[in-house]
Order: sequence, then C-alpha cells, then structure tokens
Amino acid sequence: MPSVYFTLSAAVLAGFASVAQAQTNITNNACADGSSYDSCNRDVANKWGTCVTDCRGDGDCMVDCGCTAHQQYINCMAETCWNQVYSCEYQLFVQQYFAVCPSAAEPIPFWPAPDNAPNRCSCDLGKVLQNTLTARKEQMTCMKNVTDQTVNEASSGNLANLGNGLNIANQATECACCGASASYSAAWEVCPDTVPTLAGANLWGVFFPGDLPNLYNSIPNWAWDTCDSTLDNLKCQDIGFNDSSDKFYKPGDFPKNGTSTLHNVAGTVTAPPSGTVLTWSQSSTSWTVTATGYDAKAVVSQSEYRATATGTSTDFPGRRM
Ligand SMILES: *[C@@H]1O[C@H](CO)[C@@H](O)[C@H](O)[C@H]1NC(C)=O
Ligand SMILES: *[C@@H]1O[C@H](CO)[C@@H](O)[C@H](O)[C@H]1NC(C)=O
Ligand SMILES: *[C@@H]1O[C@H](CO)[C@@H](O)[C@H](O)[C@H]1NC(C)=O
Ligand SMILES: *[C@@H]1O[C@H](CO)[C@@H](O)[C@H](O)[C@H]1NC(C)=O
Repeated sequence: MPSVYFTLSAAVLAGFASVAQAQTNITNNACADGSSYDSCNRDVANKWGTCVTDCRGDGDCMVDCGCTAHQQYINCMAETCWNQVYSCEYQLFVQQYFAVCPSAAEPIPFWPAPDNAPNRCSCDLGKVLQNTLTARKEQMTCMKNVTDQTVNEASSGNLANLGNGLNIANQATECACCGASASYSAAWEVCPDTVPTLAGANLWGVFFPGDLPNLYNSIPNWAWDTCDSTLDNLKCQDIGFNDSSDKFYKPGDFPKNGTSTLHNVAGTVTAPPSGTVLTWSQSSTSWTVTATGYDAKAVVSQSEYRATATGTSTDFPGRRM
C-alpha cells in the first residue's frame, strides 16, 4: 500500500477543508428525499470539521476523518438520494473517496453501476477506476517478484546473476509499463466515446504517482512515453497482469480519443437499489442505513421492483453489496 502518498494526501485533505464541498455534486431537488439529503450532508460536514479540529494537525488522524466522512456521505446517498446512485456525480464521489482514503476497499455500495442501470453515467467510471486499482496491485506484485528474485539470487550465492542491474531494470521497466498501460487503456477501452480525461485517463497519476519514494528505485528514469518498445516485446499477461479490460495499449498506439462529455442516461431508479435497508462495511466499521422517500409499493415485490428499476436488463442486481 503506497501509504506515503496517502499520508501526503492528508495535506490535500486538510486543504479540502472547504469540507462542505466534498459531498456528492447532486442538488437536493434530484433526490428522493431532498430535505433529508441536505440535513444529512450538513450533519456529516459538521462532524468532519470537528473530527479534523480534534486531530490537532495529526495527518493520519485527518485522513481517518476523511475516510469516515466519505462513508457517511455515501450513507446519506443510500438513505435519501438512492435514486441518483448510478449517476456520474455519485460515481465521481466514490472516485474521490478512493483518492483520499487509503483504507477504502471494495465492495462499495452502488459502485460500479451495474450494466444497463437506469440513470447511470454515460461512462462506467467505476469500471475504469477498478482497472486502475487492479493495475496498481498487479504492478506492486510484479515489482516485488523482481525484488524477491534478486534477494534469492543473493542468498543462494548465485553471484553470476547478482548485480545484474540491467536485467533488474529491464524487468522493473516491464512491470511499470504494463501497470501504467493497463490503467490508461481502461479509459479508452471502457469509455471509447468519452473525452479520455473525463473517463479517467489521469487516474494513474493520482493512484500511482511517479514520485512515490522507493517505487521506481531500479528505474529512476522510467517514463511512460518510453514504453513502446518494452510493450512491443511483451505480453503483460505473462508477468501477472490480468485486468478486467485486459487491454495494454502502447503510448504511441492508442485508439482515437472520444469527444463526449459525461452525462446520465435516461431512466429512473424508482426504489432503493439496496432494498430498504443497506448494510455495508469498511475496515472495522459497519454501517446500517435505512432508505427514506420511497414508494412502498415499488419495493414490495422484488420482481416488480427489478422490472421498474431496470427496464429490460436481466443483469441488474437487486442488491449491490
Ligand atoms: C464537484 O464539483 C466541483 C466543481 O466542478 C469539482 O471541483 C469537484 O471535484 C466535484 N466533486 C466531485 C466529488 O465530483
Ligand atoms: C516471477 O518472475 C518469474 C521469473 O521472471 C516468473 O517465472 C514468475 O511467473 C513470476 N511470478 C509472478 C507471480 O508473476
Ligand atoms: C483474469 O481475471 C478474470 C476475472 O477478472 C478471471 O476470471 C481469470 O481467471 C483471470 N485469469 C488469470 C490468468 O488470472
Ligand atoms: C487524447 O487524449 C489524451 C489524454 O487527454 C491526450 O494526451 C492526447 O494528446 C489526445 N490525443 C489527441 C490526438 O488529441
């Protein structure tokens, strides 16, 4: 876990201390229970402010406050604005949650939006981010494999290979190029019509910053732009990369950029997608949230509910957990 980066992001988070602005960018009139939505968010912002003050400048403590606040904002959505959880705005909020909270872990309620969900974002932002998170994990495993081999060779007295710096650098470069490629590629692969930066083309820099200490020790001059020849001669699957999109474009060989901006597709979520009660957890915290503002008739029958919530889709789960 690149905790150093996230500790640094405590500063970002404190600067965030326009804390009230951190909630989802959804206006109350779009929500099933707009007035409760406002008071719920206000309450979270107040608690967050108090939490940060009580940290007295301790970075880790402030990061924890941000994690909790984001979880509570998600609860506000589940409680009062469940009809907007597949929107671009909520999916972007979850992206923000992962960016500021190092302990954030799947599963997250309503994320990614199911295929064909009503009122979903035109680009499956959740899927793009999932690819980046997977790529990060795979790259770190890949790098560790390189390091472990070096240690093995040293301890087995295999001096012929020991200090073969060039080989180590080559393997580390392969890991780095595949990781970056997997992450970048997802934006084009998952959302070919969307402007890449809006689809998440910049996520790699956020979740895997190049200045992360020690990460690129063996390859100090590594740059994504130089990965063409590495990727020419390599199947990333062979060194442990297996993204769900499984695309590994080379820097000089990307598909055309999409031109669409983000928007929510048609459709209405007419009943709480999680059922009336949502239970979920992060780290050691468990949350139970009861939805408000729904029409009881719409939730009575799960099958009726599925029909209203999905249109024609069969793969829309009644419960996203
Ligand atoms: C909400 O909108 C503001 C202004 O456009 C933007 O800076 C911020 O990142 C957005 N927040 C989220 C969670 O999308
Ligand atoms: C680690 O590296 C070795 C040598 O390149 C390779 O055979 C092995 O499959 C790698 N393991 C993983 C988990 O990628
Ligand atoms: C790759 O990932 C998919 C699911 O994401 C999984 O079904 C498959 O077994 C994986 N393949 C390998 C070689 O790990
Ligand atoms: C496509 O988008 C990427 C990411 O924003 C950008 O770096 C690149 O220059 C764009 N390519 C073209 C041909 O506009």
